[in-house]
Amino acid sequence: MLQVENIAVDHGRVRALWGVHLAVKPGESVALLGTDGAGKSTTLGAICGIYTVAEGDIRLDGESIRGRRVREIVSLGVVLVPEGRRLWPEMSVLENLEMGAYLPARRRDRAAALERVFDVFPAMREKSSRPAYELSGGQQAMVAIGRALMANPRLLLLDEPFIGMSPLIVQEIKDVLRTARERHGLSMVIVDQDFKRAMEMAERTCVLSNGRTVMEGASKDMQSDPVFTKTFLGLNGEHGVV
Ligand SMILES: Nc1ncnc2c1ncn2[C@@H]1O[C@H](COP(=O)(O)OP(=O)(O)O)[C@@H](O)[C@H]1O
Ligand SMILES: [Mg+2]
Repeated sequence: MLQVENIAVDHGRVRALWGVHLAVKPGESVALLGTDGAGKSTTLGAICGIYTVAEGDIRLDGESIRGRRVREIVSLGVVLVPEGRRLWPEMSVLENLEMGAYLPARRRDRAAALERVFDVFPAMREKSSRPAYELSGGQQAMVAIGRALMANPRLLLLDEPFIGMSPLIVQEIKDVLRTARERHGLSMVIVDQDFKRAMEMAERTCVLSNGRTVMEGASKDMQSDPVFTKTFLGLNGEHGVV
């Protein structure tokens, strides 16, 4: 479905990515891992058209999407849930959700999209008229994911969606994402500081280091790969940061 082929991306005059490759097959989820500054957010931003790809290519269903605008890429079904949620605090939950269906093609089936979101996030229905700022951090994260689902994505790019959440909320979000995968065949690329958690959610894993892909493979195989476990999970099996 998605192929990121050795892309390079610059932030101003500084090269942030040097050769990132990553593939997502239809219906599959991929954990995108790496330490702080490895280039995970930049990779997601390049996929959804926020950052310019200087070298390499990004293909969706075999066709290059390099150089396309964000809204075009959204209309092709690739949607980012950015780090830090970025909701409109004074707007209601419903209004925030509706912002996810801003494309004309989506506006027409906004009601159906909303039902789909309420279907996977029943709690959102009760809160729909409340201003976003009233919600807990976890609920706000749900609205951010719900907003992305309003665009009816095939591929959801999640940038550290669990930051600052209690284990209970994390579990709730994980359940919602699993439901969205099962019911709507959603694929995901998920960035998470908790490597183990991300790998449990994803069939495949891609590890970045200093703007390059250094490992890519089935999550199961990588979890038993001594190089990976030693470097990233720690010898005693505790997950952590190198
Ligand atoms: N907007 C930006 N301007 C300049 N440099 C940036 C910007 N965003 C990220 N960088 C740099 O690019 C590199 C990759 O960052 P990022 O993709 O945010 O990493 P990660 O998400 O893995 O922590 C880092 O060295 C970071 O300092
Ligand atoms: Mg980041």
